[in-house]
This record gives sequence, C-alpha cells and structure tokens, in this order.
Amino acid sequence: MRKLSYFIACSLDGFIGDEQGDASAMFRFMNEEYLDFLKTEFPETMATHGRRPLGLDHLENKRFDTVIQGRGSYELALKEGITSPYAHLREYVASRSLAVSPDPHVEIIADDLLGRVHALKAEEGGLDIYLCGGARLAGELLDEIDELVIKTYPLVYGTGMPMFGTGLDIKEFTLDGVRTFTNGVLVRTYTRQR
Ligand SMILES: NC(=O)c1ccc[n+]([C@@H]2O[C@H](COP(=O)([O-])OP(=O)(O)OC[C@H]3O[C@@H](n4cnc5c(N)ncnc54)[C@H](OP(=O)(O)O)[C@@H]3O)[C@@H](O)[C@H]2O)c1
Repeated sequence: MRKLSYFIACSLDGFIGDEQGDASAMFRFMNEEYLDFLKTEFPETMATHGRRPLGLDHLENKRFDTVIQGRGSYELALKEGITSPYAHLREYVASRSLAVSPDPHVEIIADDLLGRVHALKAEEGGLDIYLCGGARLAGELLDEIDELVIKTYPLVYGTGMPMFGTGLDIKEFTLDGVRTFTNGVLVRTYTRQR
C-alpha cells in the first residue's frame, strides 16, 4: 500500500494560514539549513515554479510521486497563471466545480474522492502520495491519512485556518521523529494508529 501523507506547514497554535489560508508569514523562515533539509528529503513538495528559480528543477522525487490538492489550494496557483504547480508529480485536484481541467497534466477528481484515493493507495510500487491540503480536503480525507509531516513555524496566529476542516473527529497518531532547525522550525512525523 502506498501511504497518504499530509505534509503541511502550520503555526504553533496549529493553523495552516490566516483565516483565508494565507501562509505567507511562514515564508520568512526559509534559510540555508532548512532549504537543504527540504531539498534532501522532500524536494518534490516544492512547487515546480518555486524550484526553477532556485535551480532545483533536476531534483529527483524522494518520497512522493503523486500529489492531491483541493480546488481551494490549487486556486492559488491558478491565480498566478500556473495550471500545473507540481508538474514533476502526478497531479490530482479535488473539485466538483471545475468542469474541465485547466491543464492536461492535472486530473480533476469530481466524484468518489474516497474511492479514487483508495485506488491510488492500492497501486503497486511507486512512491507515496502527497496530500497538499488545504483544510477542507484534509478534513474529507482525515480517515485515509497514514502519515502526518507537520512543519511547525515559531509563530502564533491566534486564529486562522485549521489543519483539518472537520468537526470533532479524534484520531490517534504515533510520533516517529522530530527534527529541529536553527530557524525555530520543528518537523514532526507521525504514523496513524489503526
Ligand atoms: N500551510 C500549508 O502548508 C498549506 C498547504 C496547502 C494549502 N494551504 C492553504 O489552504 C487554503 C485552501 O484550503 P481550503 O480548505 O479553503 O480549500 P481546499 O481544501 O484546498 O479545497 C477545498 C475544495 O476541494 C474540493 N473538494 C473537497 N472535498 C471534495 C470531494 N469530496 N469531492 C470533490 N471535491 C472536493 C471542493 O472544490 P469545489 O468547490 O471546486 O467543488 C472544495 O471547495 C489555501 O489558502 C492555502 O493557502 C496551506
């Protein structure tokens, strides 16, 4: 089985952005040490248009070969005129409103989201599946998540977009590892207890 892994940036108080989901306050923590970590362990989680200017386009996928994101988070790229933000991965966008995919490389999942995710997880071989967010999609897929990789930035938002757009839904995870960085960022990895 391939894992569905929610790889997400959040504040100390657990928000993935402000109330509109804007996470740009977290960008300032990118320094050489942290970028090296991302380049070495999760290069494919950097968007294609973010990798190019850094000269990282050539990096091989390490953990993921597939990405799934909600229309809300895909919309951020579309607003910049980018129709394939993760061109180096198989790209899926969950949406009932996007009738036609804006890009031949991006497949829209309009129906049976859980069935499609089950099928992706059941594929033989390959790398894992990067659940990119945002909150509403992660909430819909909470029960399917096998792994959490939470990048916690040393910021308090006070209020904002939660990691999961669900109501109360308690799930247990086991801590696998913690990495700390001089910029104050903490990266924790958890596996879902089933
Ligand atoms: N901090 C981080 O690392 C991080 C990462 C990613 C995103 N974000 C933030 O998250 C925000 C977006 O989150 P969001 O919660 O507003 O939106 P979202 O979860 O990205 O997308 C929600 C949309 O996904 C579609 N969807 C959800 N469930 C579906 C289902 N069962 N079947 C088909 N389509 C389904 C719907 O699209 P339709 O309305 O088209 O039907 C829904 O409106 C962005 O502002 C972004 O900045 C932060």
